[in-house]
Amino acid sequence: MVAMPRQLWGTSESKRQFLIRAEQEEGVVSPLLHGQFAEHLGSCVYGGLWVGENSPIPNIHGYRKSAIEYLKALGVPVLRWPGGCYADDYHWREGIGPRKQRAKRVNISWGNYIEDNSFGTHEFIGLCRLIGAEPYLAGNVGSGSPSELRDWVEYCNYPGGSKLSDERAANGSPDPFRVKYWGVGNESWGCGGNMRPDYYGGLYRQFASYLHEMGGVEPFLIASGPSGDDTRWTRGLLDTTSPIMPNGLSMHYYSGGADEPTKFAASAMEEQFKSFRHVEDAVVHQRSVLDGYREGSRIGLVLDEWGVWDKIPEADEKRYGKLWQQSTMRSGVAAGLGLNLFNRQADKLYMCNIAQITNVLQSLLITDGPEGERCVRTTTYYAFQLFKEHRGNTAVHVDNENEDPLGVSVSATKASGKLVVSLVNPKDSEEVTVECMLRGVTPRNATARILHHADRNAANSFDAPDAITLQAHPARIEAQKLVVDLPPLSVVTAVVELN
Ligand code: AHR
Repeated sequence: MVAMPRQLWGTSESKRQFLIRAEQEEGVVSPLLHGQFAEHLGSCVYGGLWVGENSPIPNIHGYRKSAIEYLKALGVPVLRWPGGCYADDYHWREGIGPRKQRAKRVNISWGNYIEDNSFGTHEFIGLCRLIGAEPYLAGNVGSGSPSELRDWVEYCNYPGGSKLSDERAANGSPDPFRVKYWGVGNESWGCGGNMRPDYYGGLYRQFASYLHEMGGVEPFLIASGPSGDDTRWTRGLLDTTSPIMPNGLSMHYYSGGADEPTKFAASAMEEQFKSFRHVEDAVVHQRSVLDGYREGSRIGLVLDEWGVWDKIPEADEKRYGKLWQQSTMRSGVAAGLGLNLFNRQADKLYMCNIAQITNVLQSLLITDGPEGERCVRTTTYYAFQLFKEHRGNTAVHVDNENEDPLGVSVSATKASGKLVVSLVNPKDSEEVTVECMLRGVTPRNATARILHHADRNAANSFDAPDAITLQAHPARIEAQKLVVDLPPLSVVTAVVELN
């Protein structure tokens, strides 16, 4: 009898082989690679994370309760705030003290709405404490001053007895906030002041001179880095700052999309997915540029803003706020491509923050407007949940001869007694059986979970919040191989127990 080819999910069956070299270690996957970003933009903060204490929406001291619970369950290693572009027009003193007395300002970055500053430094630190995130404050260089930023450091970190630390205590927080991560401007080549790299480099030197250790916390200063792989900016900046080197360099790399989030054509999706290869190349390239400087190898490369940025329908923005974007199955696959490349380049990256945590661009959560109670976990949330298995593990090398940017993407990490493998199939209609030959370990058994929907435009909506969630997925060990069937548009994480 002739065996019939086995039909899987899609239209044809194909096979891909990878070699995982578990003995070839490539750095630790810092939990900081799974960081998040929150800006005063649209309904990210107001109406998203923060509804206020008097809101009928269930809240914990003003924070949206469901959002807190979901974020806590996922674990947010680091949270960057208050921008983005907004950071370079933010004056932190306007966001402290009794809320009713806080200054009302116009948010010139995101639509001239009235910002009442009811969410300020104390509220941000409170949020970080609730969800267990390390705070990262983005300081104002574009329209601020060295003294303003220096004072923010003192207000946050000095334990007590100085004017500013006593003011913090009077505002309800005798304990210092102990903020380690400080951004020195944001996109200084663009919305953060439209500067030239040497001009910004000079400002960086000036600002950094006044940002000091306080209360035992040495500030980790993150300079505004390139847009994408712009080496002209990186070199111009470091040529100027040298020999004073920032602790981190913030690079922004969005993956643009030509279509509306829930109306993507296959071709537009492919173009967007291909950009993740460019992101990976840019990480490798920027790292090599940094390493070329004396002391440059000590600079942490921070992919400070990343994710898909689609063509956003005006109606959605009107209803839910600026840059509100639905996260579809396509977005979940994109998140998988990004998180996979972070594993592969773990030794070259210090931190990565997806834009943005709630209601803006590629978010973990969406909420139905300031008045709406509903809060939905997106496909991106679930992709992050799949990759949580890698946090703190050691990345290991995966041989991949396939040059196709739309081919199956694989990464692997190891920890005590286990190997964790993530696989992404970005193809719209091609199912794949993946065989990973495991070298340097003895596998015992494997379990896996999958994020998958056959429709690239399917999403978790307010009416169907659990349309796409993680499911158990078969994975098998055959001799020294991990074998997993990947339907089109799927993200899988397999945990291989080792002997
Ligand atoms: O995330 C939205 C915006 O994109 C940020 O404010 C800015 O830094 C970037 O251009």
